[in-house]
Amino acid sequence: MTLPIRIAPSILAADFAKLGQEVKDVSEAGADWIHLDVMDGHFVPNISFGPDVIKSLRPYTTATFDCHLMISPADPYLEAFAKAGCDRITVHAEAGVHLHRSLQTIRHLGKKVGVTLNPATPLSILENVLDDIDLILIMSVNPGFGGQKFIPAMADKIRNAKSLIGDRPIELEVDGGVSTETAGLIAAAGANVLVAGSAIFKGGSVDAYKQTVADLRAAAERGRLGAN
Ligand code: DX5
Ligand code: ZN
Repeated sequence: MTLPIRIAPSILAADFAKLGQEVKDVSEAGADWIHLDVMDGHFVPNISFGPDVIKSLRPYTTATFDCHLMISPADPYLEAFAKAGCDRITVHAEAGVHLHRSLQTIRHLGKKVGVTLNPATPLSILENVLDDIDLILIMSVNPGFGGQKFIPAMADKIRNAKSLIGDRPIELEVDGGVSTETAGLIAAAGANVLVAGSAIFKGGSVDAYKQTVADLRAAAERGRLGAN
């Protein structure tokens, strides 16, 4: 199944002093989803923001809120993120021992269900939950910080994830080191959702955001065509 290319700016790289405006600007610039990186200083070595901040951002856009939880445990907080206005909630397979329970909880909260894997985590962990998820997020850097380099070995992992998905309508998202240089190979490998933080927000203006979102989309579309 071929799903549309979607560009998901990560607001981790936005100006936190004016987050509402940044969300509005990047939405106007053509973002499909807003990627929300939640970090707890325990599962990853950094702290970002939580459900109250997300709730306060909700009125600034109608774009999908794509929430990436880098927290452990995640289960006690899933309801809070659902109530804050997240449309999609993605948990790390490494964040708890009961992955299936976390996925069920997100489903019962009425949200789209995602699983993400650190670079070293094998895809085999997904084999028994494929029919319970709407999205697979391949981490192409070690989570915790923006501005890192794409790990080249993740291209094969994306390709293998795509074949594992088969005909299922599962979004294949990639996060970390996505730029106009890497977007083509990422889409060629089979991903359709591209998260980009620093590549987009370094622009600093709506016009620059618009240009980068368009460039990323074009590079991904070209990569996808080249692969066929
Ligand atoms: C990393 C986060 C990413 C990050 C990506 O832990 O999950 O979403 O913001 O940043 P860039 O695009 O700068 O690599
Ligand atoms: Zn992320």
